[in-house]
Amino acid sequence: MNRIFSVIFWATILSILSCSTKTRVIQKYTTTDPFIEGLISKMTLDEKLGQMTLFTTDWESTGPTIRGGYEDDIRKGRCGALFNSHTVAFTTRLQKIAMEESRLKIPLLFGYDVIHGYKTVFPIPLGEAASWDLDAIEKSAYIMAKEGAAAGLHWTFAPMVDITRDPRWGRVMEGAGEDTYLGSEIAKARVRGIQGNSFDKADRLIACVKHFAAYGAPFGGRDYNTVDMSERMLREVFLPPYKAAIDAGALTVMTSFNEYDGVPASGSKFLLTDILRNEWKFDGFVVTDYTSMNEMVAHGVVADEADAGILALQAGVDMDMQGAIYQEKIKKGLKTGEITMEHIDRSVRNILKIKKKLGLFEDPYRFSNPDRERQTIMNPEHLTIARDVARKSVVLLKNNGALPIPAKVRKILVAGPLADDKDNLTGVWSASGEGRHCVSLLEGIKSHPASGAIEITHVKGCDIDSDNKSGFDEALRAAAGADLIVLAIGEHKDMSGEAASKAMIRIPGVQEALLEALSATGKPVVTIVMNGRPLVLSKVHEKSAAVLEAWWLGTQAGNALADILFGDYNPSGKLPISFPMHEGQIPVFYSHKNTGRPFDPNSKWNTKYLDLPNDPLYAFGYGLSYTTFSYSLPGADRTDFSGSQSVSISVDVKNTGNYDGEEVVQLYVRDLVGSVTRPVKELKGFRKIFLKKGESKTVRFTLTPADLAFYDRNMHWVTEPGEFDIFVGSDSNTQNKIRIRYSK
Ligand code: GLC
Repeated sequence: MNRIFSVIFWATILSILSCSTKTRVIQKYTTTDPFIEGLISKMTLDEKLGQMTLFTTDWESTGPTIRGGYEDDIRKGRCGALFNSHTVAFTTRLQKIAMEESRLKIPLLFGYDVIHGYKTVFPIPLGEAASWDLDAIEKSAYIMAKEGAAAGLHWTFAPMVDITRDPRWGRVMEGAGEDTYLGSEIAKARVRGIQGNSFDKADRLIACVKHFAAYGAPFGGRDYNTVDMSERMLREVFLPPYKAAIDAGALTVMTSFNEYDGVPASGSKFLLTDILRNEWKFDGFVVTDYTSMNEMVAHGVVADEADAGILALQAGVDMDMQGAIYQEKIKKGLKTGEITMEHIDRSVRNILKIKKKLGLFEDPYRFSNPDRERQTIMNPEHLTIARDVARKSVVLLKNNGALPIPAKVRKILVAGPLADDKDNLTGVWSASGEGRHCVSLLEGIKSHPASGAIEITHVKGCDIDSDNKSGFDEALRAAAGADLIVLAIGEHKDMSGEAASKAMIRIPGVQEALLEALSATGKPVVTIVMNGRPLVLSKVHEKSAAVLEAWWLGTQAGNALADILFGDYNPSGKLPISFPMHEGQIPVFYSHKNTGRPFDPNSKWNTKYLDLPNDPLYAFGYGLSYTTFSYSLPGADRTDFSGSQSVSISVDVKNTGNYDGEEVVQLYVRDLVGSVTRPVKELKGFRKIFLKKGESKTVRFTLTPADLAFYDRNMHWVTEPGEFDIFVGSDSNTQNKIRIRYSK
């Protein structure tokens, strides 16, 4: 009865005070809403600060503190949102406390890190980025939102769009890699998938673009470490994906742990007000990361937590994640005049707008339907899509003909510590996903129809991270009787992710020694690498007949890999991040500057190492196929253009091999002379196309003057006249180019 009452109560209030809401289209709020203003006018200071307070439940820990007593906080109206709280049963129980026991009955907001799947786990975001398939990425994001919403959630702390060029940083697994253009396109696709255009069906989630800003550029690749770079670098390389996500409609932003230019992001007016609000017109709400407000004391920019809260509120933070500073400590600022009730009302307004947009005042339980939960979560359609996205995420790094597995192969040894592993396949940030639901590589191979006539043996051989070689003999004996060896090696899933940076990015333990021993038998070894970050794969490349980069592929991992091994799917992935030859090269990335002494193998006095090449082992955009593709020279409808004219670039791509397949056609630009130095290449377009064997297609790109713009010496965003090389090819090493000239 209480539930019906609260629904009627808010529906009545709403119908009196606010305009009709036939379709809840996400719109930019520009005027105050009488319903929200009326509610704010009824709230006590503690209730207002409560709406600005986000606590984790004790269900899971994603940070250094867990607090008790959140149920009592809900009763007192001193906590307006919770995270790490999911399932219909749990969210309903907590919502009822708010709706039946609090004074103003303001619905709770439920958040969770649904990053690459809620229960149906998709590839880790870095893996999905390797698909370069924006439709697949959007669909994956929609399914994760649909399952999360069916579990009673309203809000996910995704997409993470932090650009990084440092694979030592554990959270490289969570983003889209090193490139600004690819990262921006993927950010938009993920927001479209998560939020859609409406919350009317309660099958989408509020997106939260994170971690604002430049969290992926810590010194030494060490998580939480200092970030310092020019404003030019910040604006040209690191900020665009956040803006792309906001332009795509992301309704919340999460601040990052790091400082930028000496100020921690959670206290940075430059980031949170000057850029986010004033330049980008963001009108959602800003939440801190996990106690990142409190951590400004450790950063040394404030003396105590009360000052941290005052600095954060002044800078533009609306909601305090787990810090309990807004809840308990910033009232002092009202007395000193450092903050005003307008600051607080502004934040409360930003938060209540989102709750209203979700329809929670009309029906606080509209996301909590147990029947829908049962029917939606991990249904067969989702698993089918997860298998397809996983296949598209795999990158073929080497193949001397060992793949796809030839029909003559009658005996396969499946070896390695990850061959029959299920738990690691989810990767981290896998929400409610469970390893037990994952299909292992061995299971995938055994259940594939092609394996019916093949004798399959399995030997683990060694652990992921130990120096124990006692399993080698058994593996070598099994190898003696095999025609082909499929070896699954890599990291443990917890070797990447938050607080998981590594100074050495090698394959741990004795796994490479096992590869060498198996390779020495003379039998072809297909190595499948499972990992959350780029690793140094020089030895793997040398000793393997074929190499597949498989990341953490999620629930359908084994089936997706079997589809590739047996040729049902021709691998089409391309690396979204460079793989270094050695840690000493880091940061190594394709869009580097030319310098005044560019690399010259024939002279001493130029930018190089004495002990390593400059180039990574595998370049950004690299990935092989079972077929081959040829590219014509790029053509242009005009090589001289001016003013607002655009240029159409075209290239003929032909499938010259024996398999149908997909190719990611990449377009890069080089500005030969600028008022500031410019990268030797910048990705400015890509198309993922399908070509039957023997088929050709003409691929076209349109380049506008805006595509060539950058921040000039005076930090003005301009397109300067001059010559540009336009490259079109299969990866960032392409030299297939045409020169065009732009004049004002
Ligand atoms: C963590 C992460 C952030 C996550 C949040 C809530 O510390 O930095 O990405 O969304 O806390 O779990």
